Amino acid sequence: MSAALARLRDDALPALLRRAGFAGAPTDEIYRDGLRYFVNEFWTAGQRQAHRLHEISYRACFKPQLPAFFIAHLTAPGDAVYDPFSGRGTTALQAALTGRRPIANDTNPLAAMLLAPRLDPPTHAEVAARLGALDLAGGGEELDDPDLLAFFHPDTLRQIASLRAYLRARAAAGAFDRVDAWLRMVALNRLTGHSPGFFSVYTLPPNQATSAAAQRRINGQRNQVPPPRDVAALILRKSRALLADGAPPPHPPALLLTGPAHATPGLGDGVVDLIVTSPPFLDVVDYRGDNWLRLWFAGIDAAAVPIARHGDVGAWQHFVRGAFAEFARVLRPGGLVAFEVGEVRRGQVALERHVAAAIAGLPFALIGVMLNRQRFTKTAQCWGIANNQGGTNSNRIVLARREG
Ligand SMILES: C[S@@+](CC[C@H](N)C(=O)[O-])C[C@H]1O[C@@H](n2cnc3c(N)ncnc32)[C@H](O)[C@@H]1O
Repeated sequence: MSAALARLRDDALPALLRRAGFAGAPTDEIYRDGLRYFVNEFWTAGQRQAHRLHEISYRACFKPQLPAFFIAHLTAPGDAVYDPFSGRGTTALQAALTGRRPIANDTNPLAAMLLAPRLDPPTHAEVAARLGALDLAGGGEELDDPDLLAFFHPDTLRQIASLRAYLRARAAAGAFDRVDAWLRMVALNRLTGHSPGFFSVYTLPPNQATSAAAQRRINGQRNQVPPPRDVAALILRKSRALLADGAPPPHPPALLLTGPAHATPGLGDGVVDLIVTSPPFLDVVDYRGDNWLRLWFAGIDAAAVPIARHGDVGAWQHFVRGAFAEFARVLRPGGLVAFEVGEVRRGQVALERHVAAAIAGLPFALIGVMLNRQRFTKTAQCWGIANNQGGTNSNRIVLARREG
């Protein structure tokens, strides 16, 4: 991209935010304690159906409309779009779907397992043929694990354990291919949930993991026992849904990394045009504990995954600074960061202010905070007074430009 074009885009961002409201509503530009906020409904989840490949769940994932907004307005096909805390890979997948170069990193190896197969999916026929050739009746050594049996009927568990054993054997033999990777991704997504489309008995939705002890309580309260499920049929059905809009178009090759966001030696200096990301918000989500079943299925040692959880705001700010120091290295001069921090502790902690403090002294120009207000939410409610249950209910996105 030419430097002139880059400069034009960067300088134009506040102007874009002033006119980019969904449904033509004017943007409120507000200064609070020296920080500039742009408040509007910039996108809505219902605005346009996102591509079906996005439809897998993950704790604290953001909606595809969020990265789609920045990618569409701030990059061109061929540009590199990076998410250093990628989770299910929403940013990277959206980048691929729009012909950008997807780059993703997460400290949890699960993230790449969830993303890679959707960047290069097999056809429905390939999935059906592979499933048809599998014998899932065999089982494995976990068949009497009471924690797993709290979720799964013994027949279902036998099929899950067989699939897990098959995938491990394929990997050990060096034969693991993209169809296997797809099966693993879909199976990870189907393990537990709240409908008969999942392998488990009724439990919390898959973006709200539960422990075995909690599941036993749910089973008792609902007087339920896990019913038998057809694992291959459920994988095939979910595959059909995910593939309904087709594969991503041709795009520059993806780069998927696994490690801490503050140290990404696999990523070169100045190669990234745009970062769209959402870090862990203090200690709100237990990414390791909540993903225990998925980690078990994937054969990942949960204890070995170094996931950041900072109960203390000062420690969190330090963690954010470390990440931005690395962003300064990998971003090209003029490149942008959109850093979503959501709303925590019933709005009592304005994380965006801690991000602003964290990047002081680093080579970034702080553009402001974009506050995506949900429809029907009054501006006053965005300021944390009347928040609902301590989760997140508005998108607060810190925007910063790499100087130079
Ligand atoms: C809020 S989630 C991101 C969700 C993502 N935006 C999506 O749509 O799925 C935060 C992610 O940060 C990851 N994480 C936690 N500590 C990390 C670290 N130090 N470096 C990189 N990733 C980390 C977690 O594993 C989790 O996937």
